[in-house]
Amino acid sequence: MIFYFSGTGNSAWTARQLARLTGDNAYDITTLKELPELTHTKQLGFVFPIYAWGVPEIMADFIKKPPKLQGFTFGVCTCGGDAGLAMKQFAKHYPLRSSYSLLMPNNYIIGSDTDCESEILQKIAAAREELKRMAQEIQRQEPVYRVHEGPLAGVKSHLANFGFNKFARSAKPFFAEDRCNGCGRCVRNCPASAISLRDGTPVWAARCFQCLRCINECPQQAIQYGKSTAGRRRYTIRAYLPQDEQV
Ligand SMILES: Cc1cc2nc3c(=O)[nH]c(=O)nc-3n(C[C@H](O)[C@H](O)[C@H](O)COP(=O)(O)O)c2cc1C
Ligand code: SF4
Ligand code: SF4
Repeated sequence: MIFYFSGTGNSAWTARQLARLTGDNAYDITTLKELPELTHTKQLGFVFPIYAWGVPEIMADFIKKPPKLQGFTFGVCTCGGDAGLAMKQFAKHYPLRSSYSLLMPNNYIIGSDTDCESEILQKIAAAREELKRMAQEIQRQEPVYRVHEGPLAGVKSHLANFGFNKFARSAKPFFAEDRCNGCGRCVRNCPASAISLRDGTPVWAARCFQCLRCINECPQQAIQYGKSTAGRRRYTIRAYLPQDEQV
């Protein structure tokens, strides 16, 4: 059984690919009504994106729920560059036999532009190969720690992550430009239910998960975050997947 959280699809695709390769099922924790029966679970996996070298709060809250299993447990974080100490922090709250990071296209367009087209394609192609290797190791229940922590991992995962959760999770800078046509897609797809339509225009709550699904997936590219995102490209893995792998 694999539980995942995902903003722009990297982690959803990763979880579903791993489920397919290991004969398992993947569940989106934001749409899960109740926990599936875990008694006969042979493996339990968690997949999520790295946020400021840490575990997204929604996943950190979720791992308080499932019972601790004797079976094989693993975690995979997807990240644009470095994961910091996130997997070690995760394992303190939910014991993991294996931990991985998977390099995927960067979706944090508040900080910098997306990866260029060739890098996006190269990262997804490399991830496909890495997922096959991971799936074999998981099926053999082989304990592995293959996480790209990057430099200054401790400082980033403690100080920078604290700063992110305290100060950078504001949704107030989000706004929709005039080319928004009021389609409501951002409202329907927000995993935090933090967007509503007022007179046909989206308005945001004070805080959200910062998953960046809304800004990256608006069909009109009408959403901005303050001044930082104007002129930057948008990224979602959904634009790069064949029909039978859509997430
Ligand atoms: C709020 C936020 C913070 C991020 N912080 C990091 C980071 O610290 N290190 C990193 O390598 N990537 C970081 N990223 C990039 C994502 O982890 C990466 O693109 C991930 O694969 C997105 O997964 P998703 O498509 O499942 O949401 C960040 C993205 C967001 C939205
Ligand atoms: S998805 Fe884009 S076009 Fe549709 S309502 Fe939201 S901001 Fe407007
Ligand atoms: S408001 Fe946008 S960034 Fe925030 S949780 Fe919703 S979709 Fe994600």
